[in-house]
Amino acid sequence: MSTREKIADLEARSQRIEVGGGQKAIDKQHQKAKLTARERIVKLLDPGSFTELDKFVTHRCINFGMAEKEAPGEGVVTGYGTIEGRLVYVYAQDFTVLGGSLGEMHAGKICKVLDLAVKTGVPVIGLNDSGGARIQEAIDALSGYGQIFYRNTLASGVIPQLSVIMGPCAGGAVYSPALTDYVFMVKDISQMFITGPQVIKAVTGEDVSAEDLGGAMTHNKKSGVAHFVAENEEDCFAQIRKLLSFLPANNLENPPFMETGDDPERIAEELNEIIPDNSNQAYDMLDVITRVVDQGEFFQTMPFYASNILTGYARIKGQVIGIIANQPKFMAGCLDINASDKAARHIRFCDAFNIPIVNFVDVPGYLPGTNQEYGGIIRHGAKLLYAYSEATVPKITLVTRKAYGGSYLAMCSRDLGADQVIAWPTAEIAVMGAEGAANIIFRKEINAADNPVEKRAEKIAEYREQFATPYVAAERGFVDLVIEPRETRPCLVNALEMLATKRESRPAKKHGNIPL
Ligand code: HXC
Repeated sequence: MSTREKIADLEARSQRIEVGGGQKAIDKQHQKAKLTARERIVKLLDPGSFTELDKFVTHRCINFGMAEKEAPGEGVVTGYGTIEGRLVYVYAQDFTVLGGSLGEMHAGKICKVLDLAVKTGVPVIGLNDSGGARIQEAIDALSGYGQIFYRNTLASGVIPQLSVIMGPCAGGAVYSPALTDYVFMVKDISQMFITGPQVIKAVTGEDVSAEDLGGAMTHNKKSGVAHFVAENEEDCFAQIRKLLSFLPANNLENPPFMETGDDPERIAEELNEIIPDNSNQAYDMLDVITRVVDQGEFFQTMPFYASNILTGYARIKGQVIGIIANQPKFMAGCLDINASDKAARHIRFCDAFNIPIVNFVDVPGYLPGTNQEYGGIIRHGAKLLYAYSEATVPKITLVTRKAYGGSYLAMCSRDLGADQVIAWPTAEIAVMGAEGAANIIFRKEINAADNPVEKRAEKIAEYREQFATPYVAAERGFVDLVIEPRETRPCLVNALEMLATKRESRPAKKHGNIPL
């Protein structure tokens, strides 16, 4: 072949691979409101930034007629490109090729980008759309999954790993996403389960649709397996880009600074009116957060799960912060199993990636009940204590109202290592609520009174007056500052700037033993 012919040959080979499983399979994909792997990469990345790797890789399976079967691109498109100018590695399973099923060489392509990503300190985004292990490849396919799990684990805490579910994801295939930091799902097209509806029907007799079993809302609301839900693929890509705007590329970098144009000295007058006079009345913690952070922008993670706690990212004076906030609007903001898991996971991610943590505290206590006790609230709640104590990033705690007992400690109290504790005058930092406390310590006095009801009310008021304030804690130095609510933003700006150079080292160890 002449050079010109060789170049034309390259072009022809490339084109053959780029059509994946062919037009019929592409049409089928589009009919399901799904884009193809290559279309997805184009939409996710900055225009023209994608470099494809391993385009010519193919399988070497000869079982069950596979020797005659072509698998263009091996059913997965891999490479690197940029999002808002920042490098990312990406792999996208191609459902049009053998159902995106994962064989030995398919896994090898994914492992190659995972290895490169760790070596270069760059986030990885996996677009999953696959029928699972390529059945014809048997143990080689299983081994492929194992190699991915192993790399996901080694990469954990080194680079952000994002998994996007854009089709079926069944059997062991769900475990690579589960090992990564964030799982995105798209309504109607994404499903994740260990055993599918037919197997469940055969084994337990339960009737459940694939969507109810493992659809986007199931995992965003019920199971907590997924962290984000999108209306469609475009919406999903926009959410991925948004999330990445808050994250550093790796554990040795700081999160990206962004000029937001919001005045750091801005006073938020409305905050002085936000706490109701009746301390049992709810308010929306989102109203507090959005008035404090830059441009009111709070990007929530897991917004549909454990609504009694809010987690997510925002900026203050352009610097990224991770937020954990009790939400008095749901279950009075009390802590339970799911809230503890959700918050602990967020804290650990922030700590691994140098993101300072700001806590907004209004917590009456732990949710009582046999469900919680049998479900292991002791073990799950301990994750929160562990995660806060373990975190060495700057930790700032703002107490807006209640902070009682064990839950006061759990929400990043001074004793769990908060670097700054700030309280509003409406803060109630005490061992327990006034009603409960008065009933116990003044029981004899109340029972002996001529009018026990009146006496009880009087004693409750006395306790509240004396102890349901920030001042007892402030007198001991557990609270550093008591401020007017309207001054919260400038106060947090100062605290974050003061803590920007924080360095804290811990005794060397292999790893701790978080109560899982
Ligand atoms: C080989 C597969 C495949 C697989 C799909 N295909 N899954 N080939 N191995 N796992 C092929 C189909 O044969 C078909 O090929 C093409 O992909 C498209 O599949 P369809 O069935 O036509 O698509 P659809 O109707 O949309 O159904 C999608 C599906 C279904 C629900 C994913 O294909 C399915 O149930 N697949 C099997 C899922 C499964 O049981 N996987 C578990 C494997 S074991 P043709 O040539 O006809 O177009 C496993 C364990 C992993 O994953 C453990 C890791 C630790």
